[in-house]
Amino acid sequence: MKRLFVVAMALAASATSLPAAALDAAAADALVRKSKCLTCHAVDKKKDGPAFKETAGKYKGKPEAMEKLTKHVTVPSKVKVEGKEEDHETLKTEDPAAVKNVVEWILSL
Ligand code: HEC
Repeated sequence: MKRLFVVAMALAASATSLPAAALDAAAADALVRKSKCLTCHAVDKKKDGPAFKETAGKYKGKPEAMEKLTKHVTVPSKVKVEGKEEDHETLKTEDPAAVKNVVEWILSL
């Protein structure tokens, strides 16, 4: 009985310490690289698109931030790069948790 209790407690502890809600910056970084976002963006300097840090500042404290940015990185759109219309890339994943992780990462910068 005692052993079972210990196993149950260990499981409960590992379940609560799962990084489900925690930000995984390495995974976010890997996904934006894979999705070619970094051809137009960088974390802290402006390229063709705004620096992710600038976007974080722009949306800080705004309740619509998650929704707006999630849409922006998952729904294809057009952006102007040096006066020309280009397709805005979307994240190369089907996993909503991975998308959320990237958006939260951008907002945390
Ligand atoms: C072709 C170049 C290009 C690529 C590739 C690109 N972006 Fe962008 N992105 C832009 C430009 C330009 C803007 C500014 C658009 C505007 O303000 O209307 C922008 C804006 C953004 C914004 C800010 C949106 C806002 O509402 O302020 C975010 C976040 C963003 N991009 C994320 C990404 C992610 C994530 C990827 C990869 C999936 C990506 N971008 C790929 C050019 C690009």
